[in-house]
Amino acid sequence: MRSLLKKLLAPIKVKDVELRNRIVMTAMHLNFTPEGKVNDRLVAFYEERARGGTGMIIVGGCIIDDCSGATWMIDLRDDSCVEGHSVLADAIKRHGAAAACQLYHAGRYAHSISMEGRQAVAPSPVRSRFTGEEPREMTYEDIQRTVRAYAGAARRVREAGYDIVEVLACTGYLVCQFLSPVTNLRSDEYGGSWENRMRFGLEVADAVREAVGPDYPVSFRIAGHDYMEGGNTNKEWALFAAELEKHGADMINVTGGWHETRVPQLPMSLPRGGLAYLAAGVKGKVGVPVVASNRINDVFVADEILRMGMADLAGMARALITDPYLAQKAYEGRYEEISHCIGCNQGCFDHVFYLQPVTCTINPRAGRELEYKVERARKPKRVAVVGGGPGGMKAALTAAERGHAVTLFEKSDILGGQLNLAAIPPGREEFWTAVEDLDAQLDNAGVELRLETEATAEMLKAEGFDAVVVATGARQAVPPIPGIDGPNVVMAWDILEGKEDPEGKNIVIIGGGAVGSETGMYVASIGTISGDTLLFLLMNNGEDTETLKELCSRGNKKVTVVEMLEKVCRDVGISTRWTLLQDMRHLGITTMKNAVAKRIEEGRVVVEVDGKETVIPADTVIIAAGSCPVKELYEELKGSGMDVHLVGDAREARKAIEAFQEGYEAGLAT
Ligand SMILES: Cc1cc2nc3c(=O)[nH]c(=O)nc-3n(C[C@H](O)[C@H](O)[C@H](O)COP(=O)(O)O)c2cc1C
Repeated sequence: MRSLLKKLLAPIKVKDVELRNRIVMTAMHLNFTPEGKVNDRLVAFYEERARGGTGMIIVGGCIIDDCSGATWMIDLRDDSCVEGHSVLADAIKRHGAAAACQLYHAGRYAHSISMEGRQAVAPSPVRSRFTGEEPREMTYEDIQRTVRAYAGAARRVREAGYDIVEVLACTGYLVCQFLSPVTNLRSDEYGGSWENRMRFGLEVADAVREAVGPDYPVSFRIAGHDYMEGGNTNKEWALFAAELEKHGADMINVTGGWHETRVPQLPMSLPRGGLAYLAAGVKGKVGVPVVASNRINDVFVADEILRMGMADLAGMARALITDPYLAQKAYEGRYEEISHCIGCNQGCFDHVFYLQPVTCTINPRAGRELEYKVERARKPKRVAVVGGGPGGMKAALTAAERGHAVTLFEKSDILGGQLNLAAIPPGREEFWTAVEDLDAQLDNAGVELRLETEATAEMLKAEGFDAVVVATGARQAVPPIPGIDGPNVVMAWDILEGKEDPEGKNIVIIGGGAVGSETGMYVASIGTISGDTLLFLLMNNGEDTETLKELCSRGNKKVTVVEMLEKVCRDVGISTRWTLLQDMRHLGITTMKNAVAKRIEEGRVVVEVDGKETVIPADTVIIAAGSCPVKELYEELKGSGMDVHLVGDAREARKAIEAFQEGYEAGLAT
């Protein structure tokens, strides 16, 4: 079995540190440290990933001085931090993983509120679109002090017992800001020419090397490509990587893009391994090991990247939040037991933005390793789970893992519930991965499936179940709009399920939440060319670039999304919302905000905006006006003396993360 992942599971050396395999958990700010100090929660999180067989774990980013980032990031500013870090490094190494630690300086991406009111510093006072603030231009002394701060923090990393130190020089943070002509407008020796703009990063490399000594491995995490207008591309970054190697870098870890770029780096619409080409470009220019990164969520994708020679190691950050035991399962050939990160960002990046601790939609235990334990039940029970959507599947799996005999009832002929609909719009296919994973895991756990079976209270009582989890989901709301029962009106879920087709050219969607907007994307993409056709035309010079863009983004429908509130996609998480709005713009979808649908008539919808009525042509009107819980079964059962749990949309219509979380908790409670 192991031979299947020959490359990924082969050991590799970074300088003299041997890694047991090439799976690298790249750094992630997790928001577990409100005081900035290493604590039990952080240690437990990383210890589990080390126990799970990961090759290298990079802790961080860690702040190195008072202007480098939020005070609630992991602290490395002075020697008092070393003790806590030693505990963490030890916990990682104890389980055979290499422990690395990342030094972070955000420059103009640091927010004053997060630094007790201190103004951010940067090469030049170029306002940051990420924070909305203007940084202070660094003086020569500031630059020298900051270089020393990197060196001091690097020394602490070594003293704490980590195996490797990494300097963050990506994502538009301080080193990138010096390197880029967009953010470095200086006229001294740190600005202007390419050599001058490289100077700060290379001085950091030299100072770090001097601080840790000649034998200690140093990694640099670079941007690969800024994806910023006027910024550095993969060509400049590959050159900079080569310079870093000359200045002592032992590993180059390649990600892509800045926070301000319009090229998304995290959503599921980025194809698996889609930025590995940046690592490949760097690999051609350096002799030290290179890490590829971003959306490598599958061990076979990771192995393929390494086998194709694009990189030497595979960065798998969120994939290891989702499944800490991914490497172990790969070693043992238990591939179907691996849970994949689907790139939804609901539990990780969205949580960081809202200043909450990171967790995971698929793995609610992530970040709560000390709180949640899946323990074998002392007395196995017979558990019925009603509803095969995400909440029901997660409840059934968790209950089965506790040793209960579980029967999962689903009235349709497939599992997955609304995840199957969420996966239909372009770029959302990864939702199916969650269904496939759970399906395989349920099978593996011996859960009895009863598809096409609508469980009733009588049936459940007659069969003598000890506990019932009700995960009956939601039904679509039908708003009281005159004309809603007209022949040109269909429900969004029916369009996504393929039960109805959007007839005609002009399509109006009533409701601009996640479902309405994504249904809009699906309808607007009808008639566009596929990725394969695009590649064919591109390679054979069949069309010019502008025409190709148009063929990819203009289908044969004209879609208008009508939203009564002031925002569309309001129920989409912050890290995905902007990408969805961008995708909608690319597809030529018109959005109307503060727009109330007054009536639906033949061939049109009458909408009121600012007290004025407007007529929109509509051959088909699609209703996406929210959903309501289906909980009749729960109401029937709750007074019956049975142990009954209500989870997911059946409790209240919300997002996948709540369904998984509540399903998990119900499974633990049975
Ligand atoms: C919540 C979160 C916090 C992150 N913080 C950092 C960080 O501090 N330093 C860093 O180099 N990358 C950071 N990243 C980027 C990840 O290391 C990784 O490059 C990114 O998630 C894409 O890889 P993945 O698809 O394997 O998750 C963060 C990502 C997430 C989701």
